[in-house]
Amino acid sequence: MTTLTTSIAVERTKKSRLKETDFNNLEFGKYISDHMLVVDYLNNKWQEPKIVPFGDMMMSPAMLSLHYGQSVFEGMKAFKNSKGDICIFRPQKHSARLNKSLARMCMPQISEEMFIQTLHAIVEADQDWIPTSEGSSLYLRPFVFAFEPRIGVKVADHFKFMIITSPAGAYFSKPVRLKVEVDYVRAAEGGTGFAKCAGNYGGAFYPTQLAREQGFDSVLWTDAKEHKYIDEAGVMNIMFVINGKLITPKLTTALLDGVTRDSILTLAPDLGMEVEERRVSVQEIKEAFEKGTISEAFGAGTAAVVSPIATINIQGTDYNLPAVGADSFQQRAKTKLNNIRLGIEADVHGWNYIIPA
Ligand SMILES: Cc1ncc(COP(=O)(O)O)c(C=O)c1O
Repeated sequence: MTTLTTSIAVERTKKSRLKETDFNNLEFGKYISDHMLVVDYLNNKWQEPKIVPFGDMMMSPAMLSLHYGQSVFEGMKAFKNSKGDICIFRPQKHSARLNKSLARMCMPQISEEMFIQTLHAIVEADQDWIPTSEGSSLYLRPFVFAFEPRIGVKVADHFKFMIITSPAGAYFSKPVRLKVEVDYVRAAEGGTGFAKCAGNYGGAFYPTQLAREQGFDSVLWTDAKEHKYIDEAGVMNIMFVINGKLITPKLTTALLDGVTRDSILTLAPDLGMEVEERRVSVQEIKEAFEKGTISEAFGAGTAAVVSPIATINIQGTDYNLPAVGADSFQQRAKTKLNNIRLGIEADVHGWNYIIPA
């Protein structure tokens, strides 16, 4: 992918926190890099982006996003590849998803060009924060929120688009225990499930907390109407290998269109795997366990790439999956995806945005 040059003004911090950061012990989200990117939307247009030292901001207690939830975000990653170049993974796909979220929440669109230029600028400004140990990355958090101070219910006129970043260590995902959720709903069709808006996450905390108290790591959401079909798992899309085929719920307005999901579905044929995107019923999964036709289940998401699933609890019964072998589909997909991002395998799909060393 061609690299854009950026001319975004950078006010550098006078006191870097790099030396206070324990790169050998990077708890996810704990450390924020030295700078942040800020752009205001005022007078019906995005103003000039600027990069300033990361720090607290002044805001009004009447700021509309606090009250009515106009707030959306993205979660993505940058790496140092095998040549020492910086690689930002699939910024176009994240840009498209951000714009879908913005449209659903009546918030102004951000051009792909501005999105990629601002990512380029902030990652370049804080490139010393990109960890280089195996499996690590710089987590990128672009977000947009209503900034206008006003207590009346309305679509805001003033928004902020910001990007903050956080060094993330290798993600060792131990196999997870999921509970098929039939009492609570994350999203209904026609709602905001496909948008990465803040409220979706706030609403998911309570059922997830209940599931944790019952010994599960997360919930497996089902459709809002009948609780018959599987949607997604916590903050990951879900995939199954049944009868040797990769099966995943098809996208609806209730599911997030995961970038990792899309990447794995694209790579599957290269790994000799047939793909089915369709409705997947809880009953089908139960029968696949009973007949022994299910060999793998995993979550797909930016944080871990793939998270092996150990157990799926259906109507109070634990159904267990075998341990994940090196030749499993999920392991091969994870390795291939990581190799593409690190420049070890050819990036034939044009997913990497490279900032040369
Ligand atoms: C609700 C939800 N589903 C799925 C995903 C996986 O999406 P992605 O692969 O783009 O990280 C995420 C993570 O962002 C999520 O929050």
